[in-house]
Amino acid sequence: MSELKITGYGDDLTINGTRLGDLSPADHENIEKEKGGRNYSPLENVVVSHVQDSSTLICRKPDPDNIKSFIEEELIDGLCCYSAVNQGQLNQTIVDAVVHHLTKEKLPTVPRSIRHKYMSAFLMSVTNITGMDRVVPKVAGVEAPELLFKLSRRWGYRVKGIPENEAIIVAAKGNFHGRSMTAVSLSDDSVARDDFGPFVPGIELVPFNDIDSLQQLFDEKGSRIASFIVEPIQGEAGVIVPDDDYFTKVSELCKKHNILLAMDEVQTGFGRTGANFAHQLFDVKPDLMGCGKAAGGGLLPVSFVAGKDEVIGVLTPGSEGSTFGGYPLASVVSVFAIKVLVEQKLAENARIRGAQLIRHFEDMKSEFPDKIKEVRGRGLLTAFEMQKGKHLDGHKVSLELLRQGVYAKETHHSTVRIAPALTIEAWQIDNIAEAIRNVIASL
Ligand SMILES: Cc1ncc(COP(=O)(O)O)c(C=O)c1O
Repeated sequence: MSELKITGYGDDLTINGTRLGDLSPADHENIEKEKGGRNYSPLENVVVSHVQDSSTLICRKPDPDNIKSFIEEELIDGLCCYSAVNQGQLNQTIVDAVVHHLTKEKLPTVPRSIRHKYMSAFLMSVTNITGMDRVVPKVAGVEAPELLFKLSRRWGYRVKGIPENEAIIVAAKGNFHGRSMTAVSLSDDSVARDDFGPFVPGIELVPFNDIDSLQQLFDEKGSRIASFIVEPIQGEAGVIVPDDDYFTKVSELCKKHNILLAMDEVQTGFGRTGANFAHQLFDVKPDLMGCGKAAGGGLLPVSFVAGKDEVIGVLTPGSEGSTFGGYPLASVVSVFAIKVLVEQKLAENARIRGAQLIRHFEDMKSEFPDKIKEVRGRGLLTAFEMQKGKHLDGHKVSLELLRQGVYAKETHHSTVRIAPALTIEAWQIDNIAEAIRNVIASL
């Protein structure tokens, strides 16, 4: 192993003589291809450098006159780190809180085996905003559905009385709950599952937004079913919004069969869909809900499961835990992420700006009916799906948008999701729409 020397900050951050500010987009790509896990295929020829404002990034693209160098351009953030940055990049309230607590309050790092004072602030804020009795902090988004799964099983055995090892968890086809073994066991996406088996047993899938299939399954196996784990709106599947009355019917069925309704709000939570949590759009209250992403204010990975006393109450010391789940910095960040959600009225802005964006999409659909098939969304979780056709490829649209200064990424080839910061302003929405219209017109 060679000696390792690390010096400097930002562009001057230098690893064994290689200074970041000297690397071209091609250099970054080569380093990632050579040393990374190759589990992503990022957009080509662009490297994000820093933040310009809450909705705008500065990125580096190859210098047309010198391939070894780069130029810097503005990029409107239309993806928002898959809805982890609802509060906007470097939200000042959250940044100030982090800096203040680290420097002035001498924030400690301690695990849960000793109490720290910020946990109380976290628990009071989260139970208040979610309207739930109890909350368990975790770290990555995927840990939320993972814990929904574990809690469901234990509740199934200890409260519902399902015979040992016979519990069934129901999930929806097309779901995305992350990449852990449990999450891919819940998934029907072969790209995420291939050669990772054997999978976690005791899972049944039903089509999303199909109440009859759910009813049939509950009628057949309800006594062994512990929970239905479901996203209120399927984000990764391409922003699939269920019928208005789907979840009221789901909730009634769950109550009838004594089955928990466990909602994965990792992507839809924290104002994204025009309500603080998307289940509120459908007028239902789940027994359990998992949040992640924007729970960390765009700065830290923070997730949690909140739920009813009867369900979270099945946990006992040692049955769950996480070194960094709810540690002081995560607690502070999460409290301020919630403060911003409330005080900066993120859900309301998502509703207003989302309606503006959807109106633009509808206009484009009328103008280009042969190119745009469907427009979907709630709040600022929006997407347009293109008609089938070789020239109507989502990846091509993402690349063209990049050229127009908008960062967005296709999902499932033909759908492009647009989910900007919830602090975005009207003129920025118009700019995003204009860029998209230019790209669609050119296809
Ligand atoms: C609904 C949902 N659940 C869970 C996850 C996993 O979150 P993470 O990638 O932060 O682990 C995601 C990520 O996109 C998601 O959309």
